[in-house]
Amino acid sequence: MPQIKLLNIVGARPQIIKASAISRAIRKHFSKNIAEILVHTGQHYDKEMSDVFFEELEIHKPDFNLGVGSARHGRQTSMMITGLEEVLLKEKPDCVLLYGDTNSTLAGALASSKLHFPIIHIEAGLRSFNKTMPEELNRIMSDHSSTLLFAPTNAAFKNLMSEGFRPENSPPYTIDNPKIYLTGDIMYDNTLFFAGLAEKKKASFLEHLSLQRDNYILVTIHRDTNTDDTVRLKEILVTLKKLAEENDIILVMPLHPRTIISLKTKLPVLYDVLSTCKHIKIIPPVSFLEMILLEKNCRMIVTDSGGVQKESHFFKKPCIVLRKETEWVELVNNGTAKLVDADPVRISEEFLKLMDLHSVLEYPGFYGDGKTAEFILKEILFMFEKV
Ligand code: UD1
Ligand code: UDP
Repeated sequence: MPQIKLLNIVGARPQIIKASAISRAIRKHFSKNIAEILVHTGQHYDKEMSDVFFEELEIHKPDFNLGVGSARHGRQTSMMITGLEEVLLKEKPDCVLLYGDTNSTLAGALASSKLHFPIIHIEAGLRSFNKTMPEELNRIMSDHSSTLLFAPTNAAFKNLMSEGFRPENSPPYTIDNPKIYLTGDIMYDNTLFFAGLAEKKKASFLEHLSLQRDNYILVTIHRDTNTDDTVRLKEILVTLKKLAEENDIILVMPLHPRTIISLKTKLPVLYDVLSTCKHIKIIPPVSFLEMILLEKNCRMIVTDSGGVQKESHFFKKPCIVLRKETEWVELVNNGTAKLVDADPVRISEEFLKLMDLHSVLEYPGFYGDGKTAEFILKEILFMFEKV
């Protein structure tokens, strides 16, 4: 039986992590049916934003690295499209797999759909209903260029229906007759798979950072709205510093390079103050296994990351979300994630409430059974009638 050729496109840190769930499921269940080609656009390129995940999560090295790097949106996306077009024409895959909502996703959607390669979109249907977010435009355009769309939550599935996608469509599926599925979340697959491994492989990581279980708060900040706008960045960090000192708790901040660059160049005085504060540990981005340990053992999470919001739920930790809105609405409806924007009053109120409430909150299973990657691959094979 001939294999199908599946071209995976990654570029940003969370996509490399997501692709590991798919690669693992292919290796375990479908290596006879699916040949995987991996393309890295090079959107993220620092060792700790890219290589570390390939090494740690046992993903094979990319077959192609376009080396695009950082640039303004238009230039970055167009360089990706140019590179991807070459790869697609050379490899002629049966389908293209895209993850999430980054510029690498958008470039993959445009390059593949114009060349008529069917697109499979993982994390389809998520919406913030805020089109000033680059990710919102990327999601909408990628969803509307796709043939199979895998929505990770009920809310995402409903969003697709309200944009005209019809669950009753029958095969053959095409860009004009797409199929939508409600699945779980492949990041949940990853968390289940790697949590035990993290404990084993990184046993001394918390100790190395002088952290005690349940006695620190994990903070990540990287959204353009929070890093490019220094008024917001300053308000967030000054408020968090004050709260840490008043409550005598440590804040651990593995900061994205974007945030470090903003702090060092635009807020150097604040950066010095934070770096010398005994309640704050600013550290470089950590590996996924290290991140899992930080999440699993913290008291609470403060973040503007999509992935980290969900992982707070996987590890049953309350989460303060430094955004006006979220795509993961079930977390907010559940009361375990609180939207605070960059408002010092709301950050302080929710911080204090969640510190007290953390042991009584409940965390229902919103994100599937940990076998979402397997489900997705089976459906892809059904589309090509290879199962
Ligand atoms: C991108 C995604 C965002 C995702 C995030 C995951 C878009 C539009 N945004 O945001 O949705 O949540 O990845 O982390 O695609 N930089 C480095 N080293 C690197 C990578 C980036 O120094 O390896 C710095 C550069 O100064 C760069 C800046 O970070 O200009 C922003 O990087 P970019 O990839 O454009 O966007 P992210 O903020 O990472
Ligand atoms: N992550 C990581 N190291 C870090 C910060 C995040 O491994 O220092 C992981 C995190 O556990 C999650 C993913 O990266 O799985 C989220 O990526 P990010 O916050 O960059 O992007 P988003 O999910 O917001 O697109």
